Amino acid sequence: MIYFDQAATSLQKPPRVGQAVLQAMGTLGNAGRGAHEPTLQASRVVYGAREKLARLFRAEDPSRIAFACNATDALNMAVQGIFAPGDHVITTAREHNSVLRPLYRMEDHRVELTVLPADTRGNIDYCDLEKNLRKNTRAVVIGHASNVTGSITDLQSVSEFTRRHGLLLVVDAAQTAGVLPIDVQEMGIDVLCFTGHKGLMGPQGTGGIYVREGVPITSMKVGGSGIHSYDRSHPSRMPELLEAGTMNVHGIAGLSAALDYLEQTGIDEIRKKESQLARQFLEGIQKIPGITVYGDPDSDQNVAVVSLNLGEEDSGRVADWLWEDYGICVRAGAHCAPLMHCALGTQKQGTVRFSFSHYNTEEEVDCAIDALRELENIP
Ligand code: ALA
Repeated sequence: MIYFDQAATSLQKPPRVGQAVLQAMGTLGNAGRGAHEPTLQASRVVYGAREKLARLFRAEDPSRIAFACNATDALNMAVQGIFAPGDHVITTAREHNSVLRPLYRMEDHRVELTVLPADTRGNIDYCDLEKNLRKNTRAVVIGHASNVTGSITDLQSVSEFTRRHGLLLVVDAAQTAGVLPIDVQEMGIDVLCFTGHKGLMGPQGTGGIYVREGVPITSMKVGGSGIHSYDRSHPSRMPELLEAGTMNVHGIAGLSAALDYLEQTGIDEIRKKESQLARQFLEGIQKIPGITVYGDPDSDQNVAVVSLNLGEEDSGRVADWLWEDYGICVRAGAHCAPLMHCALGTQKQGTVRFSFSHYNTEEEVDCAIDALRELENIP
């Protein structure tokens, strides 16, 4: 099997991740729920992971990071916890449904929404931000990289805009956490939503949210927090504010081990390898007639995600052939990014998405190129 579906989830993980999960399941109690050794050890594991995430994203303090189940969970916390009736929010057609659907739901609660259009390559015009500013504009909610074309958002332009007008910048880092350097303070990011199971290489069911101090946010969930049990209301301080109930400590232990691996390996090294593999793939498929690659494949402002089609063939059929005849795993269809596919003109056909991990090899990439060449030749 050859796994090219890193953008959906990382399948190959550092071996220490699974080992940490297994060990946690046999040793850890419930974090923050007592003073015996297993509960204290669970609290230490959770705090350690929080510290590592704060270091990775350059957060001012570990307490500004709350754990979540995934990026969707974190984005729901942000969108539903920050915006109020009368607010205007700007987003883009490049976004995943994890951004769009929470925002559409807020439209039912009198939040005004502007979706900036994307062109046929899936890019927005950053001048549109200024053109769509209103008196009540509160925030820009935007992905750091497209999960369809891999193109990286120019967050500097966006953050210059949000800083200039005193708006909040909420970033969906589902495709970039662990893949690109993120410095929330320098980049002017007020809220960062991330998942643990893609670029961070942790277990599924992990992720989190960074909230800058001073950003007013309420919690969708309230309940057990392990502290202030006699208060009627849930604690209002971070991170407890956004963490109700027993945490996924086993998953967080795995994520923590993955963060150690990332720190030791360095995300620049990982990005270098992934970019080389994507480049090798793009060069290899260039000469295959009938292949359309979407986005800006020649740009260096892409993560290692390539979306393509083979003639007029349905993307799902191509993905099935790749799996059944060659053992190659890719993701086809709409990738939960409907407006992006409308912009690319692929809403019916979808696209076949290849996404690379640093665990992939040049030989695997050659196999995929050969497979596409063969498939293209089948009448
Ligand atoms: N959001 C993930 C993807 O793009 C699941 O495949």
